[in-house]
Amino acid sequence: MLVRVGPLRGAAHLGGDATMAIVQGSGDAQGGASAAREQWQSRWGFLLAAVGSAVGLGNMWRFSYLAAEKGGAGFVALYLFFTVLIGLPVMLAELTIGRGARRGPISALAHYGGPAWRALGVVFVAAGFLILSYYGVIGGWTLRYSVEAALLGFPSPAGEHFGDVASGWDSLATQLVFMAITIAIVAGGIGGGIERVARVAMPGLFFVMVAIAVYAATLDGAGAGYAYYLNFDVARAMSLDVAVAAAGQAFFSLSLGMGAMLTFASYLPRECDLATETVVISFADFGVAFSAGLMVFPLIFALGMGDQLSEGTIGALFVVLPEAFAAMGAIGRVVGAAFFVALVIGALTSAVSLLEVVVSAAIDAIGWERRRAALVAGVAVALAGAWSAFDLDVLDLADSIATNLFLVGGGLAIAIFVGWVMPDPIGEAAVGATRGRVHTIWRALLRYVVPAALVVILWSSVQETWAKLWALLG
Ligand code: TRP
Repeated sequence: MLVRVGPLRGAAHLGGDATMAIVQGSGDAQGGASAAREQWQSRWGFLLAAVGSAVGLGNMWRFSYLAAEKGGAGFVALYLFFTVLIGLPVMLAELTIGRGARRGPISALAHYGGPAWRALGVVFVAAGFLILSYYGVIGGWTLRYSVEAALLGFPSPAGEHFGDVASGWDSLATQLVFMAITIAIVAGGIGGGIERVARVAMPGLFFVMVAIAVYAATLDGAGAGYAYYLNFDVARAMSLDVAVAAAGQAFFSLSLGMGAMLTFASYLPRECDLATETVVISFADFGVAFSAGLMVFPLIFALGMGDQLSEGTIGALFVVLPEAFAAMGAIGRVVGAAFFVALVIGALTSAVSLLEVVVSAAIDAIGWERRRAALVAGVAVALAGAWSAFDLDVLDLADSIATNLFLVGGGLAIAIFVGWVMPDPIGEAAVGATRGRVHTIWRALLRYVVPAALVVILWSSVQETWAKLWALLG
């Protein structure tokens, strides 16, 4: 295995313990744990990268259109509920496996569960591949919108423009550009690529979001947007499709269920406090999603475009919002450009984590060098994404399958793995922890509550996805 200078220099910042972890790793050269495994350069770097993974199109595009489609605050409340009840335990489970095994997902699962569990790791990598294939397409649209907004403004009619941007060769071309940037960042490595970008990008994204939300609050008619967003329709919230969507959204938004957080944690030093990191990442992610609603809905309603939202299609953000920005004149162009730039940033730092899962698996399992793995995996994903680039129905279906089946199923498997299979998860999670009892509760949740909830959710998502598949084929 190649020993590079970057990771060792990175590890030096972490002090004695990290160096020790590396030395321990070298005694354990089998199964892919490299003697010089790369590491984050600091706790902040890891947190920003993990939040960067979580915060993305899911928080803005996916969250807003689902909140619109699934009836507002009831959906939001259920999404928060699943974030806490299922998201937190599964996030801690992924971080525990990753940090403990110090390997990519396939080898990490085999390390704790035996070779049969490699299969789950392979499913994770496939899920990452599938998600990134269409995520990169949407990322390409955001890239195009942000460049256009800065140079030309927002063309109208927005619906027609979206049609041009979002399918066919245009869509494929912007996807390729987006994927090329993603590949370049991942090729740069953990500390030198992913962490370095997240350190600049994430604070920038937060700043822009808060600024836009504050601006949106000053608009006449913003109240109608808040009313729509925060309206609690109890009857609507009780229906199962809302719960399924909310649970799927919790997984998607937190980047859970396919080993992305696991992979990021595999570059952590031993001494960090995983439970604290779990809480920080999850609430940062929820906070951004919630604030995205606070900016998107007032903007749209202030311009009287609320009725266009209720259909809640995947294009809503790319049609209604530009329409709103265009109607605001010069200021709309500034705000709109800032909005889409923030969206690109969020999308890139998320896409990077999706590609990293595939890449780290290739590094660990095949022994490829990072740059080669990033290039080959990234190009393969981009080619597969052509299908979604040319057909929005395929994109929509890929998203349903990936989220509601792969991620929810993957979350179920992780809960069972850590709850029942992995030896001494509590001991591993407790390394570096500052709290005691929390781990006992955690494992009880993983053993009973999370699987029970996810089986119900998974069962209804299978039926829903099946129906969607038939509709598309028929
Ligand atoms: N969480 C990201 C978002 O909200 C998307 C994402 C990145 C993701 N990595 C993931 C989703 C891993 C599921 C699994 O946009």
